[in-house]
Amino acid sequence: MDDYVELRGLIAEIDEDGLAERLSGWPVLGILVEPREADRASVAVWIRAGDPYLEERVAGIVTGFATGGVDRSAHRDADWAAAWRASLAPFEVGERWWIDPHPDRATDAPPGRLRLAIEARAAFGSGTHESTQLALLQLERLGCEGLRVLDVGTGSGVLAVAADRLGAAMVVAVDTDRVAAWEARSTARRQTWSCRPLIVAGPVGCLVGVAFDLVLCNMIHSELGPLLGEIRRLTAAAGRVVLSGMLACEREAVETMLGEEDLEVRAEASIGEWIGLTAAPAGAS
Ligand SMILES: C[S@@+](CC[C@H](N)C(=O)[O-])C[C@H]1O[C@@H](n2cnc3c(N)ncnc32)[C@H](O)[C@@H]1O
Repeated sequence: MDDYVELRGLIAEIDEDGLAERLSGWPVLGILVEPREADRASVAVWIRAGDPYLEERVAGIVTGFATGGVDRSAHRDADWAAAWRASLAPFEVGERWWIDPHPDRATDAPPGRLRLAIEARAAFGSGTHESTQLALLQLERLGCEGLRVLDVGTGSGVLAVAADRLGAAMVVAVDTDRVAAWEARSTARRQTWSCRPLIVAGPVGCLVGVAFDLVLCNMIHSELGPLLGEIRRLTAAAGRVVLSGMLACEREAVETMLGEEDLEVRAEASIGEWIGLTAAPAGAS
């Protein structure tokens, strides 16, 4: 049994709005118009299968606008997200990382690299974005052996598991998005070592009575600003703060915000227009 029907044809580009308007009263699943040569456009209209009356009427409307014939094809529903995930290939980040998007069919990391199984799902942090990569680059430079690490805005959990993989003594990760916290727990469970970060769904302000040697935060600078006070409060006197998620043109503004919290920039990394900063409490060794 097919799930949906696709009707495809060519129309004059000028008729695009007219066609959409004529179809607006019908329960179509979607319309895609793509420009073609000579002021013509390819149009695809999708409707659910199994309703001959609906199909006849919608096909009649599309045919009325088509400059040639209308092709009909019927399809089964597919999990496009799963198909897309299956097509992804593992990739290298920095000097140390091997990001494998397939937790269930592990590939061997190239020599000298550490495999992180990060499935591309609902939370940000598949490892492909420059901001995530800049945080990973800074992590590999700093190392985590024996450190207490806090990951603020953990998303997929990618930075939390990376810190755990580098031998952190303790990893706490927070995210105000409950879905992200759920995904991060799933990411931790899917590593090949015993990866046990403490993942909290909630604001960073809920952490009290603890200081961290390394605080990681990949957030755009407007989100980072209101959190910097809490981040500073949770950073040990000799600790480091790894920031990512900002553009080179925002550097000055971020540095000013850091200065207001008595934090100073100690190192910088960049990929394209994105930058990452490592900061420390002023005067820390
Ligand atoms: C850009 S993603 C970073 C994900 C991952 N850490 C990475 O580096 O790829 C930012 C995450 O911060 C979370 N977030 C935004 N505001 C937050 C806040 N005030 N406290 C905690 N998490 C927050 C978002 O839900 C999102 O998952």
